[in-house]
Amino acid sequence: MATEALPFEGIHIIHPETYAEHGYPHDAWAWMRANDPVFRWEETEGLPFWAITKHADVTEISKLPDVFANGPRLTISHEAEEPRMEEFPPTLIQMDNPRHAVYRKLIAHRFSPSALRRMHDDVEQIGREIVDALVQDDVGECDFVKEVSAPLPIAVIAWLLGVPREDWNLLFDWTNRIIGAGDPEFAEEGKTPQEAARGTMVELFTYFAKLVEEKKQKPGDDLISLFTQMEVDGKKLDLMDQLAWCLIIVVAGNETTRNGTSGGMLAFVENQSEIRRLQADPDLIGPAVEECVRWSTPIIHFARTATRDYELRGKTIREGDAVALFYPSANRDEEVFDEPYRFRIDRNPNRHLGFGVGEHFCLGSHLARLEMKVAYKHLLPRIDEIELAGPVERLRSSLVGGVKHLPIRYKLKPA
Ligand code: HEM
Repeated sequence: MATEALPFEGIHIIHPETYAEHGYPHDAWAWMRANDPVFRWEETEGLPFWAITKHADVTEISKLPDVFANGPRLTISHEAEEPRMEEFPPTLIQMDNPRHAVYRKLIAHRFSPSALRRMHDDVEQIGREIVDALVQDDVGECDFVKEVSAPLPIAVIAWLLGVPREDWNLLFDWTNRIIGAGDPEFAEEGKTPQEAARGTMVELFTYFAKLVEEKKQKPGDDLISLFTQMEVDGKKLDLMDQLAWCLIIVVAGNETTRNGTSGGMLAFVENQSEIRRLQADPDLIGPAVEECVRWSTPIIHFARTATRDYELRGKTIREGDAVALFYPSANRDEEVFDEPYRFRIDRNPNRHLGFGVGEHFCLGSHLARLEMKVAYKHLLPRIDEIELAGPVERLRSSLVGGVKHLPIRYKLKPA
Protein backbone atom coordinates (compact mmCIF):
# COMPACT_ATOMS: atom_id res chain seq x y z
CA MET A 1 0.00 0.00 0.00
CA ALA A 2 1.41 3.42 -0.93
CA THR A 3 1.99 5.73 2.00
CA GLU A 4 0.38 8.80 0.34
CA ALA A 5 -3.01 7.07 0.56
CA LEU A 6 -2.74 6.87 4.31
CA PRO A 7 -4.35 9.18 6.84
CA PHE A 8 -1.03 10.39 8.20
CA GLU A 9 0.46 12.43 5.43
CA GLY A 10 3.78 14.07 6.27
CA ILE A 11 4.60 11.54 8.96
CA HIS A 12 7.56 9.35 8.23
CA ILE A 13 7.75 6.81 11.03
CA ILE A 14 11.49 6.26 10.69
CA HIS A 15 12.56 9.87 10.09
CA PRO A 16 14.23 11.55 13.10
CA GLU A 17 12.55 14.86 12.25
CA THR A 18 9.12 13.32 12.84
CA TYR A 19 10.11 12.64 16.43
CA ALA A 20 11.70 16.05 17.04
CA GLU A 21 8.68 17.89 15.64
CA HIS A 22 5.68 15.78 16.57
CA GLY A 23 6.80 13.41 19.28
CA TYR A 24 5.61 9.82 18.83
CA PRO A 25 3.32 9.33 15.80
CA HIS A 26 0.66 7.49 17.82
CA ASP A 27 -2.11 8.23 15.29
CA ALA A 28 -0.13 6.61 12.50
CA TRP A 29 0.71 3.58 14.61
CA ALA A 30 -2.92 3.24 15.78
CA TRP A 31 -4.02 3.25 12.14
CA MET A 32 -1.48 0.58 11.27
CA ARG A 33 -2.45 -1.62 14.20
CA ALA A 34 -6.09 -1.43 13.15
CA ASN A 35 -5.65 -1.68 9.37
CA ASP A 36 -2.29 -3.07 8.36
CA PRO A 37 -0.18 -4.23 11.32
CA VAL A 38 2.53 -5.80 9.15
CA PHE A 39 2.99 -2.71 7.05
CA ARG A 40 5.40 -2.50 4.15
CA TRP A 41 7.04 0.94 4.31
CA GLU A 42 8.38 1.65 0.83
CA GLU A 43 8.53 5.44 0.63
CA THR A 44 11.95 6.14 1.96
CA GLU A 45 15.37 7.08 0.72
CA GLY A 46 16.67 4.35 2.97
CA LEU A 47 15.92 0.67 3.06
CA PRO A 48 12.24 -0.32 2.69
CA PHE A 49 11.10 -2.24 5.78
CA TRP A 50 8.18 -3.97 7.48
CA ALA A 51 6.71 -1.86 10.28
CA ILE A 52 5.57 -4.17 13.08
CA THR A 53 3.15 -2.37 15.35
CA LYS A 54 1.17 -4.97 17.36
CA HIS A 55 2.21 -6.31 20.75
CA ALA A 56 1.69 -9.94 19.69
CA ASP A 57 3.81 -9.54 16.55
CA VAL A 58 6.69 -7.72 18.24
CA THR A 59 6.68 -10.57 20.78
CA GLU A 60 6.51 -13.32 18.13
CA ILE A 61 9.41 -11.91 16.13
CA SER A 62 11.56 -11.20 19.20
CA LYS A 63 11.10 -14.79 20.34
CA LEU A 64 12.36 -16.20 17.03
CA PRO A 65 16.02 -15.11 17.11
CA ASP A 66 17.02 -17.73 14.53
CA VAL A 67 14.52 -16.39 12.01
CA PHE A 68 14.92 -12.69 12.84
CA ALA A 69 18.56 -11.83 13.39
CA ASN A 70 20.10 -8.78 15.07
CA GLY A 71 23.51 -9.05 13.39
CA PRO A 72 22.89 -7.44 9.99
CA ARG A 73 21.34 -4.23 11.33
CA LEU A 74 20.01 -2.98 14.64
CA THR A 75 18.23 0.11 13.41
CA ILE A 76 16.68 1.33 10.20
CA SER A 77 17.66 4.67 8.73
CA HIS A 78 15.62 7.08 6.64
CA GLU A 79 18.71 7.49 4.49
CA ALA A 80 20.77 5.11 2.39
CA GLU A 81 22.30 2.52 4.69
CA GLU A 82 25.93 3.12 5.66
CA PRO A 83 28.17 0.05 5.82
CA ARG A 84 28.66 -1.23 9.36
CA MET A 85 31.65 0.28 11.16
CA GLU A 86 33.77 -2.85 10.77
CA GLU A 87 36.57 -1.46 12.90
CA PHE A 88 34.28 -1.73 15.94
CA PRO A 89 33.38 -5.22 17.14
CA PRO A 90 29.69 -6.06 17.54
CA THR A 91 28.20 -5.35 20.94
CA LEU A 92 25.95 -7.84 22.75
CA ILE A 93 22.78 -6.56 21.13
CA GLN A 94 24.30 -6.94 17.65
CA MET A 95 25.18 -10.58 18.24
CA ASP A 96 23.18 -13.66 17.30
CA ASN A 97 23.31 -17.16 18.71
CA PRO A 98 25.30 -19.11 19.60
CA ARG A 99 27.64 -16.19 20.37
CA HIS A 100 24.95 -14.02 21.94
CA ALA A 101 23.98 -16.61 24.56
CA VAL A 102 27.62 -17.19 25.54
CA TYR A 103 28.40 -13.49 25.90
CA ARG A 104 25.18 -12.65 27.71
CA LYS A 105 25.87 -15.32 30.31
CA LEU A 106 29.23 -13.72 31.08
CA ILE A 107 27.58 -10.68 32.55
CA ALA A 108 23.94 -11.49 33.31
CA HIS A 109 24.67 -12.30 36.97
CA ARG A 110 25.88 -8.73 37.52
CA PHE A 111 22.39 -7.41 36.66
CA SER A 112 20.24 -10.03 38.39
CA PRO A 113 17.73 -9.02 41.09
CA SER A 114 20.05 -10.33 43.82
CA ALA A 115 23.03 -8.35 42.41
CA LEU A 116 20.73 -5.34 42.37
CA ARG A 117 19.86 -5.82 46.02
CA ARG A 118 23.57 -5.55 46.80
CA MET A 119 23.85 -2.35 44.75
CA HIS A 120 20.70 -0.86 46.17
CA ASP A 121 22.26 1.37 48.82
CA ASP A 122 24.91 2.81 46.50
CA VAL A 123 22.41 3.63 43.77
CA GLU A 124 20.09 5.09 46.39
CA GLN A 125 22.96 7.25 47.67
CA ILE A 126 23.92 8.49 44.16
CA GLY A 127 20.29 9.32 43.42
CA ARG A 128 19.73 10.96 46.76
CA GLU A 129 22.64 13.35 46.23
CA ILE A 130 21.29 14.39 42.84
CA VAL A 131 17.69 14.89 43.95
CA ASP A 132 18.70 16.57 47.23
CA ALA A 133 20.37 19.34 45.26
CA LEU A 134 16.98 20.05 43.74
CA VAL A 135 14.82 19.95 46.85
CA GLN A 136 16.87 22.32 48.99
CA ASP A 137 14.49 25.20 48.33
CA ASP A 138 10.76 24.84 48.64
CA VAL A 139 10.16 26.74 45.43
CA GLY A 140 12.19 26.16 42.33
CA GLU A 141 12.52 25.99 38.59
CA CYS A 142 14.82 23.75 36.60
CA ASP A 143 15.40 21.68 33.52
CA PHE A 144 14.54 18.29 34.99
CA VAL A 145 16.60 16.51 32.31
CA LYS A 146 19.73 18.47 33.12
CA GLU A 147 19.33 18.30 36.89
CA VAL A 148 18.00 14.78 37.48
CA SER A 149 17.26 12.39 34.66
CA ALA A 150 20.52 12.91 32.77
CA PRO A 151 23.07 12.92 35.62
CA LEU A 152 21.51 10.01 37.54
CA PRO A 153 22.00 7.16 35.02
CA ILE A 154 25.38 8.38 33.91
CA ALA A 155 26.58 8.55 37.49
CA VAL A 156 25.27 5.04 38.15
CA ILE A 157 26.83 3.61 34.98
CA ALA A 158 30.14 5.35 35.63
CA TRP A 159 30.15 4.00 39.18
CA LEU A 160 29.29 0.47 37.97
CA LEU A 161 32.03 0.51 35.36
CA GLY A 162 34.60 1.89 37.78
CA VAL A 163 35.15 5.23 36.01
CA PRO A 164 36.83 7.78 38.31
CA ARG A 165 34.45 10.46 39.48
CA GLU A 166 36.27 13.35 37.79
CA ASP A 167 35.60 11.70 34.39
CA TRP A 168 31.84 11.15 34.77
CA ASN A 169 31.10 14.26 32.70
CA LEU A 170 33.19 12.97 29.81
CA LEU A 171 30.92 9.94 29.59
CA PHE A 172 27.87 12.13 29.69
CA ASP A 173 29.12 14.17 26.76
CA TRP A 174 30.17 11.16 24.66
CA THR A 175 26.85 9.39 24.98
CA ASN A 176 24.97 12.55 24.07
CA ARG A 177 27.08 12.82 20.98
CA ILE A 178 26.74 9.18 19.92
CA ILE A 179 22.99 8.82 20.41
CA GLY A 180 22.09 12.38 19.48
CA ALA A 181 24.50 12.52 16.52
CA GLY A 182 21.60 13.48 14.24
CA ASP A 183 20.35 16.25 16.54
CA PRO A 184 21.50 19.80 15.74
CA GLU A 185 22.18 20.54 19.44
CA PHE A 186 24.85 17.82 19.57
CA ALA A 187 25.95 18.01 15.92
CA GLU A 188 29.57 18.78 15.09
CA GLU A 189 30.27 21.42 12.50
CA GLY A 190 31.38 20.13 9.13
CA LYS A 191 30.68 16.49 10.02
CA THR A 192 27.85 14.18 9.01
CA PRO A 193 26.09 12.47 11.93
CA GLN A 194 27.92 9.22 11.06
CA GLU A 195 31.31 10.95 11.01
CA ALA A 196 30.56 12.64 14.31
CA ALA A 197 29.43 9.37 15.92
CA ARG A 198 32.51 7.58 14.61
CA GLY A 199 34.84 10.29 15.99
CA THR A 200 33.16 10.10 19.38
CA MET A 201 33.42 6.31 19.42
CA VAL A 202 37.15 6.61 18.83
CA GLU A 203 37.45 9.03 21.78
CA LEU A 204 35.40 6.73 23.96
CA PHE A 205 37.39 3.65 22.99
CA THR A 206 40.70 5.44 23.55
CA TYR A 207 39.59 6.49 27.02
CA PHE A 208 38.36 3.02 27.96
CA ALA A 209 41.47 1.34 26.54
CA LYS A 210 43.50 3.29 29.08
CA LEU A 211 41.12 2.39 31.89
CA VAL A 212 41.12 -1.30 30.92
CA GLU A 213 44.91 -1.33 31.24
CA GLU A 214 44.70 0.28 34.69
CA LYS A 215 42.09 -2.25 35.86
CA LYS A 216 44.20 -5.14 34.63
CA GLN A 217 46.96 -3.96 36.95
CA LYS A 218 44.65 -3.09 39.82
CA PRO A 219 41.31 -4.90 39.54
CA GLY A 220 38.33 -3.83 41.61
CA ASP A 221 34.74 -4.95 42.03
CA ASP A 222 33.64 -2.96 38.98
CA LEU A 223 32.44 -4.02 35.54
CA ILE A 224 35.59 -3.02 33.65
CA SER A 225 37.60 -5.28 35.94
CA LEU A 226 35.09 -8.04 35.14
CA PHE A 227 35.53 -7.42 31.39
CA THR A 228 39.30 -7.87 31.76
CA GLN A 229 38.78 -11.22 33.51
CA MET A 230 35.99 -12.76 31.37
CA GLU A 231 36.88 -15.85 29.39
CA VAL A 232 35.32 -17.55 26.35
CA ASP A 233 36.56 -21.08 25.54
CA GLY A 234 39.28 -20.68 28.17
CA LYS A 235 40.61 -17.50 26.58
CA LYS A 236 40.39 -13.91 27.86
CA LEU A 237 38.47 -11.51 25.64
CA ASP A 238 40.65 -9.36 23.45
CA LEU A 239 40.85 -5.63 24.03
CA MET A 240 38.32 -4.75 21.30
CA ASP A 241 35.74 -7.10 22.81
CA GLN A 242 36.34 -5.59 26.24
CA LEU A 243 35.83 -2.15 24.75
CA ALA A 244 32.62 -3.25 23.03
CA TRP A 245 31.32 -4.21 26.46
CA CYS A 246 32.12 -0.77 27.84
CA LEU A 247 30.33 0.78 24.89
CA ILE A 248 27.11 -1.21 25.19
CA ILE A 249 26.82 -0.56 28.91
CA VAL A 250 27.39 3.18 28.48
CA VAL A 251 25.10 3.61 25.51
CA ALA A 252 22.33 1.18 26.50
CA GLY A 253 22.11 2.19 30.13
CA ASN A 254 22.20 5.89 29.79
CA GLU A 255 19.89 7.59 27.29
CA THR A 256 17.18 5.00 27.82
CA THR A 257 16.95 5.52 31.56
CA ARG A 258 17.28 9.26 31.13
CA ASN A 259 14.36 9.38 28.75
CA GLY A 260 12.24 6.96 30.73
CA THR A 261 12.73 9.15 33.81
CA SER A 262 12.00 12.37 31.90
CA GLY A 263 9.06 10.89 30.00
CA GLY A 264 7.57 9.61 33.25
CA MET A 265 8.03 12.99 34.93
CA LEU A 266 6.30 14.71 32.02
CA ALA A 267 3.43 12.24 32.35
CA PHE A 268 3.13 13.13 36.05
CA VAL A 269 3.12 16.85 35.26
CA GLU A 270 0.37 16.29 32.71
CA ASN A 271 -1.60 13.95 35.02
CA GLN A 272 -1.28 15.50 38.44
CA SER A 273 -3.99 13.37 40.00
CA GLU A 274 -1.47 10.52 39.67
CA ILE A 275 1.02 12.47 41.82
CA ARG A 276 -1.67 12.74 44.51
CA ARG A 277 -2.38 9.02 44.24
CA LEU A 278 1.29 8.24 44.74
CA GLN A 279 1.44 10.60 47.70
CA ALA A 280 -1.55 8.84 49.25
CA ASP A 281 -0.12 5.39 48.59
CA PRO A 282 3.72 5.33 48.33
CA ASP A 283 3.60 1.57 47.65
CA LEU A 284 2.44 2.45 44.15
CA ILE A 285 5.99 3.50 43.26
CA GLY A 286 6.76 0.08 41.70
CA PRO A 287 3.74 -0.04 39.35
CA ALA A 288 4.17 3.71 38.74
CA VAL A 289 7.68 3.18 37.36
CA GLU A 290 6.37 0.35 35.18
CA GLU A 291 3.70 2.65 33.81
CA CYS A 292 6.30 5.37 33.19
CA VAL A 293 8.28 2.91 31.06
CA ARG A 294 5.14 1.84 29.16
CA TRP A 295 4.02 5.42 28.71
CA SER A 296 7.34 6.83 27.55
CA THR A 297 8.76 3.69 25.84
CA PRO A 298 12.20 5.26 25.31
CA ILE A 299 13.35 2.84 22.58
CA ILE A 300 11.30 3.67 19.49
CA HIS A 301 12.43 0.80 17.34
CA PHE A 302 15.00 -1.92 16.92
CA ALA A 303 15.40 -3.79 13.67
CA ARG A 304 15.64 -7.46 12.80
CA THR A 305 16.57 -9.07 9.49
CA ALA A 306 14.76 -12.19 8.26
CA THR A 307 17.06 -15.18 7.77
CA ARG A 308 14.33 -17.01 5.80
CA ASP A 309 10.86 -16.34 4.40
CA TYR A 310 8.28 -15.96 7.16
CA GLU A 311 4.49 -15.60 7.05
CA LEU A 312 2.94 -13.07 9.41
CA ARG A 313 -0.74 -12.08 9.26
CA GLY A 314 -0.94 -13.17 5.63
CA LYS A 315 2.15 -11.23 4.52
CA THR A 316 5.37 -12.86 3.41
CA ILE A 317 8.46 -11.34 4.95
CA ARG A 318 11.22 -12.43 2.57
CA GLU A 319 14.66 -13.64 3.55
CA GLY A 320 16.90 -10.58 3.90
CA ASP A 321 13.99 -8.18 4.54
CA ALA A 322 14.32 -5.66 7.36
CA VAL A 323 11.63 -5.40 10.02
CA ALA A 324 11.24 -2.57 12.52
CA LEU A 325 9.73 -3.42 15.90
CA PHE A 326 7.88 -0.35 17.15
CA TYR A 327 7.80 -0.76 20.92
CA PRO A 328 5.77 2.41 21.68
CA SER A 329 3.06 1.16 19.35
CA ALA A 330 3.00 -2.27 20.98
CA ASN A 331 2.66 -0.45 24.32
CA ARG A 332 -0.56 1.26 23.20
CA ASP A 333 -2.07 -1.90 21.72
CA GLU A 334 -5.80 -1.83 22.49
CA GLU A 335 -5.91 -5.63 22.47
CA VAL A 336 -3.50 -5.81 25.40
CA PHE A 337 -3.99 -2.64 27.43
CA ASP A 338 -7.18 -1.37 28.91
CA GLU A 339 -7.43 2.38 28.14
CA PRO A 340 -3.95 2.41 26.56
CA TYR A 341 -3.86 6.21 26.21
CA ARG A 342 -4.39 6.79 29.92
CA PHE A 343 -1.42 7.17 32.26
CA ARG A 344 -2.45 5.07 35.26
CA ILE A 345 0.15 4.37 37.92
CA ASP A 346 -1.75 1.39 39.31
CA ARG A 347 -2.05 -0.36 35.95
CA ASN A 348 -2.22 -4.08 36.57
CA PRO A 349 -1.40 -6.17 34.64
CA ASN A 350 1.10 -4.09 32.71
CA ARG A 351 2.69 -6.39 30.13
CA HIS A 352 4.54 -3.58 28.38
CA LEU A 353 7.41 -4.17 25.96
CA GLY A 354 9.42 -1.10 26.95
CA PHE A 355 12.35 -3.35 27.85
CA GLY A 356 11.80 -5.58 24.82
CA VAL A 357 11.04 -9.28 25.04
CA GLY A 358 12.70 -12.62 24.31
CA GLU A 359 16.34 -13.31 23.57
CA HIS A 360 17.65 -9.74 23.85
CA PHE A 361 15.37 -8.62 26.71
CA CYS A 362 16.97 -5.62 28.41
CA LEU A 363 19.79 -6.71 30.66
CA GLY A 364 19.53 -3.55 32.75
CA SER A 365 15.77 -3.55 33.38
CA HIS A 366 16.06 -4.08 37.15
CA LEU A 367 18.72 -1.39 37.43
CA ALA A 368 16.68 1.04 35.33
CA ARG A 369 13.62 0.48 37.52
CA LEU A 370 15.67 1.12 40.64
CA GLU A 371 17.10 4.35 39.24
CA MET A 372 13.69 5.63 38.24
CA LYS A 373 12.27 4.77 41.65
CA VAL A 374 15.08 6.70 43.32
CA ALA A 375 14.53 9.71 41.04
CA TYR A 376 10.82 9.88 41.83
CA LYS A 377 10.54 8.72 45.40
CA HIS A 378 12.46 11.61 46.94
CA LEU A 379 10.74 14.22 44.84
CA LEU A 380 7.14 13.33 44.01
CA PRO A 381 5.96 12.86 47.61
CA ARG A 382 6.96 16.47 48.28
CA ILE A 383 5.36 18.08 45.22
CA ASP A 384 2.68 20.57 46.17
CA GLU A 385 2.38 22.32 42.84
CA ILE A 386 4.14 21.65 39.55
CA GLU A 387 3.87 22.97 36.01
CA LEU A 388 5.84 23.21 32.81
CA ALA A 389 8.03 26.29 32.77
CA GLY A 390 8.66 26.30 29.02
CA PRO A 391 8.41 24.16 25.91
CA VAL A 392 9.37 20.50 26.02
CA GLU A 393 12.11 19.87 23.45
CA ARG A 394 12.51 16.49 21.84
CA LEU A 395 15.52 14.71 20.43
CA ARG A 396 15.89 14.31 16.69
CA SER A 397 16.13 10.53 16.69
CA SER A 398 14.00 7.59 15.59
CA LEU A 399 15.87 5.23 17.90
CA VAL A 400 15.60 6.81 21.33
CA GLY A 401 12.55 8.94 22.04
CA GLY A 402 14.23 11.71 23.85
CA VAL A 403 13.02 14.62 25.87
CA LYS A 404 16.02 16.93 25.54
CA HIS A 405 14.74 19.62 27.87
CA LEU A 406 11.93 19.45 30.42
CA PRO A 407 11.62 22.82 32.13
CA ILE A 408 9.53 22.58 35.30
CA ARG A 409 8.47 25.01 38.02
CA TYR A 410 7.45 23.56 41.37
CA LYS A 411 6.48 24.29 44.94
CA LEU A 412 7.34 21.67 47.52
CA LYS A 413 5.61 20.75 50.76
CA PRO A 414 7.82 21.25 53.81
CA ALA A 415 10.18 18.28 54.33
C1 HEM B 1 14.32 2.72 31.10
C2 HEM B 1 15.51 2.27 30.76
C3 HEM B 1 15.77 1.24 29.69
C4 HEM B 1 15.01 0.88 28.63
C5 HEM B 1 13.64 1.42 28.22
C6 HEM B 1 15.73 -0.16 27.91
C7 HEM B 1 15.26 -0.79 26.78
C8 HEM B 1 15.90 -1.84 26.14
C9 HEM B 1 15.39 -2.54 24.99
C10 HEM B 1 14.05 -2.24 24.28
C11 HEM B 1 16.28 -3.49 24.65
C12 HEM B 1 16.18 -4.47 23.48
C13 HEM B 1 15.37 -5.66 23.93
C14 HEM B 1 14.98 -6.58 22.81
O1 HEM B 1 15.57 -6.56 21.72
O2 HEM B 1 14.04 -7.37 23.05
C15 HEM B 1 17.39 -3.38 25.59
C16 HEM B 1 18.51 -4.19 25.56
C17 HEM B 1 19.58 -4.01 26.40
N1 HEM B 1 19.67 -3.15 27.47
FE1 HEM B 1 18.27 -1.84 28.07
N2 HEM B 1 16.92 -0.39 28.55
C18 HEM B 1 16.99 0.44 29.65
C19 HEM B 1 18.01 0.50 30.58
C20 HEM B 1 19.16 -0.25 30.53
C21 HEM B 1 20.23 -0.19 31.50
C22 HEM B 1 20.23 0.67 32.76
C23 HEM B 1 21.20 -1.05 31.06
C24 HEM B 1 22.54 -1.41 31.66
C25 HEM B 1 23.25 -0.75 32.46
C26 HEM B 1 20.72 -1.66 29.85
C27 HEM B 1 21.42 -2.60 29.12
C28 HEM B 1 20.91 -3.27 28.02
C29 HEM B 1 21.67 -4.29 27.29
C30 HEM B 1 23.10 -4.75 27.59
C31 HEM B 1 20.84 -4.74 26.27
C32 HEM B 1 21.17 -5.81 25.22
C33 HEM B 1 20.73 -7.17 25.74
C34 HEM B 1 21.00 -8.28 24.75
O3 HEM B 1 21.23 -8.02 23.57
O4 HEM B 1 20.97 -9.45 25.19
N3 HEM B 1 19.48 -1.16 29.56
N4 HEM B 1 17.13 -2.39 26.50
